[in-house]
Order: sequence, then C-alpha cells, then structure tokens
Amino acid sequence: MSLQKEIDKRKTFGIISHPDAGKTTLTEKLLLFGGAIQEAGAVKSNKIKKGATSDFMEIERQRGISVATSVLAFEYKDHKINILDTPGHKDFAEDTYRTLTAVDSVIVVIDVAKGVEEQTEKLVQVCRMRNIPMLVFINKLDREGKDAFDLLDEVEQKLGLQVTPLSLPIGMGSDFQGIYNIWEKNIQLFSGDNKQKISETLKISDITDEIIDKTVGVKAAKELREEVELVVSVYPPFDREAYLAGNLQPVFFGSALNNFGVRELLDAFIEIAPKPQPKKAEERLVKPEEEQFAGFVFKIHANMDPKHRDRLAFIKIVSGTFKRNENYTLVREKKKMKFSSPNTFFADRKEVIDESFPGDIVGLHDTGNFRIGDTLTAGEDLNFKGIPSFSPEHFRYINNNDPLKAKQLAKGIDQLMDEGVAQLFTLDMNGRKIIGTVGALQYEVIQYRLEHEYGAKCTYEPLSIHKACWIEADESTEEYKEFARLKQRFMARDKYNRPVFLADSSFTITMTQEKFPNVKLHFISEYE
Ligand code: G4P
Repeated sequence: MSLQKEIDKRKTFGIISHPDAGKTTLTEKLLLFGGAIQEAGAVKSNKIKKGATSDFMEIERQRGISVATSVLAFEYKDHKINILDTPGHKDFAEDTYRTLTAVDSVIVVIDVAKGVEEQTEKLVQVCRMRNIPMLVFINKLDREGKDAFDLLDEVEQKLGLQVTPLSLPIGMGSDFQGIYNIWEKNIQLFSGDNKQKISETLKISDITDEIIDKTVGVKAAKELREEVELVVSVYPPFDREAYLAGNLQPVFFGSALNNFGVRELLDAFIEIAPKPQPKKAEERLVKPEEEQFAGFVFKIHANMDPKHRDRLAFIKIVSGTFKRNENYTLVREKKKMKFSSPNTFFADRKEVIDESFPGDIVGLHDTGNFRIGDTLTAGEDLNFKGIPSFSPEHFRYINNNDPLKAKQLAKGIDQLMDEGVAQLFTLDMNGRKIIGTVGALQYEVIQYRLEHEYGAKCTYEPLSIHKACWIEADESTEEYKEFARLKQRFMARDKYNRPVFLADSSFTITMTQEKFPNVKLHFISEYE
C-alpha cells in the first residue's frame, strides 16, 4: 500500500475526561466495535483508587497498567484507529498534556449529571491552545442528569467551546427513551423497561414523520420537534472545516455502559476526524507524506522489571515510513541508532513490527538515550516543537540519605526526570537540588523507584515555592543584573540549563513584573 493510503486510513486520538465520567468504559466499547477485544471488562481502568496515595503496590500496579493501555489500536471500517491513553488522575496531568502533543484529535467525555468538571476544564484548555479538533460525548444518559440544553450552555461557557449537537436525547433517566441522531437522521430506541438493550433503530423520513409519535408518544415527539427546531435556530450547522480548525465542537449524547450512541459516535468520528497532521519543527513544517521518516518521543516508560533498567520510549511517527533495523538519528545527540525490535500496540498485546506509518506510535527499547521531546529522523537536523513543561505545583528539596550512593542517586534522578516523572531545578546559589511535581503522589513514586531501581535513598525537605517561572530576558542589561542580584536566593536552572526564577508567592510575581518589566516570566517552558 502506498504511504499516502496508509496515512489516509489512520486516526490517532485521545479521550479526555474528569475521572469517573466514563473514559475507560467508552474506550472499551470502541474496542469491542473494532473486534480488538471480545468481552467487556478487558480494559483495565488506568486509575488510582482514592486513598491509595501511599500504597506503593498500587503505584506499581498503576504503572503496569498504564504501559499496557498506553496505546490501543484497532481497525474499524478500513481505518486504523490509535487511541492514546491519557491518565485521568490529576497528579499525572503532565503526562496527559504531553500525550496531547501526539494526538490529531480528541473526544471529551462529560458526565450528564456532573456536567463540566475541573479536570475536563484544564485538559480542554490545553487542546484549545493547540486548536486540536474535539468531539464531545455526553455520557450516562440512562441516569437522571442535567437538561440537554443547559449542559450545552455549560460546555460553551465553562470550556469556551462553540458546540453543535449532532444528536439529542429523547427524555432522560427513567424517562429516557432513546436518541434522535441528527447526523444520521434516525432514532435509536431503548427497549421498554430494560435500559440495557437497544431494541431498534427507527428509520424516519424527517422529524415530522408520524412514526415518531407512534413510537415515543405524542408528548415526547412534540418536545423533540421543538428541541430540534431550537437546535437549528440556535446552533451553527455542522461544518467540517470549522471542526478541523478547532472552531466548532460537535456533541453526541449516549451511554457508554449500555453501548448506546457509541457506534454513532464512532461512525461520525471516522468520517470527520482528521488524519495524521503535519507538525512544526523549529526548522520547518514536517508533512506526513514526506518520504523520510521523522518522529518524536512523547512518553518514556520505565520497564516493570526493576533489575533491568531498560525503558520503553513512545515515538509518534510524523512523516515517512519507520522501518525496523534501519539507521536513524537521535538529533539532540547526533547519535545513530538502530532498533531491532520496535513494538506496536494493540488492545491486548504488543508486537514487534517491521514498518510503521504516520499517526502510529512505536515503542522503542531504550537504555537511557531518550528524553521526552527528542526528535528521531532519517538523518535530517529537525527538532519538533511543542512539548512544554508546565510550572510544577509542589516543590521540595531532595537530599541524599546514603553518602555512599550519591552517584546512583544522581543517575536515578537524571533518568526519572528524562521520563518526565517530575522536574529538577538546581539552585544557582548553592547547587541544591529541588524536585517540582504536579501532584504530591510523584514524591512517593520517585522515592520508591530510586530505592528499588537505583538502590539510592532520598529524603525530602519542605520548601515554600509558589511557581517556577522561566525567564525571558537579555542577560546583559542592567535591569536583568539587578533582578538577578535581588532574587539571587531564588535563581535556579532547569534540567536543560534554562534560567528559572522560583517565586515564593503570586504577590512576588506581580511585584517582580512591575519592577522589572523587561524580565519576562513564563509559567510554561516553551513560549512563542
Ligand atoms: P473513567 O475511566 O472516566 O474514570 O470512568 P469509568 O469508565 O471507569 O466509569 C466510571 C463509572 O461510571 C463506572 O462505574 C462505570 O461503570 C460507570 N459508567 C460508565 N458509563 C456509564 C453509563 O453510560 N451509564 C451509567 N449508569 N454508568 C456508567 P463504577 O461503579 O465506578 O465502576 P465499576 O466498578 O463499574 O467499574
């Protein structure tokens, strides 16, 4: 098959939601349609149960599951679909942000009763910044929830989206009868009292069709017609270009658990979702159909076996054909590398592959060469942009607890930071090392892994830092020198030796920006 055909049949996306909205359930139903799994319950929920924050076994279990479910690939109607897993737990949000750099679109799952929740807001914000096309799936319609139009308003206001419903629920909770599918112009009905089964799909000529009254009742039919009229008058018609540009988000209603509305979502998805997209490198825009292979590392996963310190680096293929045993260049190190057993991922297994194409994810065994954000090419000097670090929320000093193991500790910290578990800052003043994380859970993960994988022991010391600010300034100016002198105790370098100001409060940030207007402070490591 030609490269172009391989590209055209691929769709790589992520599902994002607040925990418990139904991401795992929806993923599983999608895999069932693809025939990638045979029964429900096969996909393990990749989430940490509440109260498990100090349970190391739970953390280990989580790590095992998260590698297994990192990429779930399946075929559906001649398309190859790659679902990239995004951890819902907020302590792993950074992992999710990075994964979002490797998707071409997302599906946002929202619980009909809970509406837009905190984690959804944050993740959608990241997608909006990147203009990632989004489909919205409102889930759990078999339960009592918010009014459909109120929810659409909430999605628009809280998430800043411009929505257009492509389906509408008929009733809800105990009165839920089914779904009117605006996209396919049919009605799907639940069977009688049993909300677990879909009885039939009702073909209708249009919304005035009398068969609707006969099936759902005159009252419900009347309401439905009014609502459809409202949709037409209030919401813009679906426009694929607007969706692809990230300016319009189609909304579907359904119930993942009952497999209701899921096929409709999937059918619409394969029709409208984007194929693998070009990606910006510092040097130029790289297009999927270019013959030469290029890709980037968006995730590194430590192997489950602590004795072998090998890791799996996840590469998103941006252009060309990736081939087994071919010479590629790790651009940052100008190092030639060859991979004898690259993995591809399916729902239930990983397999060694000979070739992979744009949109695909390959897993490469790595003994410590790769860093998150690294570019791998067939030889060209390219550096893909756009895997930023966000300012951590928590900061602690890290101390060595065993003087004989200083080297192991340094190596362990170095490699865990390459994996993106947390961020390391080194104070200019005295060289002390500070670990910054998104959630408190990471400190335990780091301590545990340093001990079990590197034989090093560490302790933490509290530190009152509010945010890490990456500094953009001309270091030769008097203004910068004055700033650096005054803030000496708070000046640090990140892992890539970029200057960072560790601010102790938001007040300090405001004051500093007023006093030193030409020293720009950023809460994200990559800025335009
Ligand atoms: P997550 O990955 O987004 O965190 O959510 P997950 O799919 O695990 O779903 C969270 C809970 O919501 C699960 O119940 C799941 O069965 C339920 N759920 C998902 N979709 C629907 C739906 O359409 N209708 C209803 N009524 N429930 C739904 P749980 O009891 O927390 O977990 P489990 O023990 O059933 O796995």
